[in-house]
Amino acid sequence: MDLSHHRVQYLKSSFKEDSAASNPIEQFDIWFHNAIEQNITESNAMVLSTCFENKPSSRVVLLKEYTDKGFCFFSNYSSRKGKELASNPYASLLFFWKELEQQVRIEGYIERLSEEGSDTYFYARPKESQIGAIISPQSSIIPNRKFLEDKFEHFDHSQIVRPKDWGGYLLVPTVVEFWQGGEHRIHDRLLYTLENEHWKINRLAP
Ligand SMILES: Cc1cc2nc3c(=O)[nH]c(=O)nc-3n(C[C@H](O)[C@H](O)[C@H](O)COP(=O)(O)O)c2cc1C
Repeated sequence: MDLSHHRVQYLKSSFKEDSAASNPIEQFDIWFHNAIEQNITESNAMVLSTCFENKPSSRVVLLKEYTDKGFCFFSNYSSRKGKELASNPYASLLFFWKELEQQVRIEGYIERLSEEGSDTYFYARPKESQIGAIISPQSSIIPNRKFLEDKFEHFDHSQIVRPKDWGGYLLVPTVVEFWQGGEHRIHDRLLYTLENEHWKINRLAP
C-alpha cells in the first residue's frame, strides 16, 4: 500500500520559548491538563520503550501519577519489560496526543516504587483488576485463554494479596522533548536537558 499521499496539515497551535515552563514536569503538567480539558481519550496512555542487549522493545502502559520526581506506572516485575528494566534501567516514555498535534518524549532511568507505594495503588484498583494481576503470569506463554478464565473464575477472593512481582516504577527524567506540529512541517521542538541539576532548554530543528 502506497501511503505517500497520506498526510495531514498541523495547524492547531505553536510552542514558543516564551511560553515554556522552566521545568519539564511543570510543562508536562500544563500540556496534560489541557489534554484532559480537551477530552483526549486515554491521555495517560504512553509508549514505554526498554532496551535489552541493544535490542529495543515498546509497549503501551498507563501513567498513574507524576510528581516533581518523575512519572509512575505499574506492571509485572517478571514480565518481559520487567526483566529488561532489571537488566537496563534506562528507558523512554512517549505520549502522542494526535487531536492536539502534540508529542512528548521522555528519557531517563527507572526505579522501583516502594512496597508501600505499590500496595496503595494495588489495593485501590477494582477487585477484578487485582485478581487479573495475580493470576496473569505476564509475558509468559500460556496454553489458551481458558487457562486464565479458569484461574479467574476459581480464584479464592480471601487470597487477594499484591504479588511480590507486581508493582510500580518511577521514570526519573533526564531529557524531555515537547513537540507541537506546525504548518508546512515547521514543527516546534523544545528540548529540556538536565545539566548539573538544572534544566536547559534548546530548540531543535523539526
Ligand atoms: C491502552 C493500554 C494500556 C496498558 N496499560 C498497561 C499498564 O499500565 N501496565 C502494564 O503492565 N501493561 C499495560 N498494557 C499492556 C502492555 O501494553 C503489554 O501488553 C504488557 O505490559 C506486556 O508487555 P511486555 O511483555 O513487554 O512486558 C496496556 C496496553 C494498552 C493498549
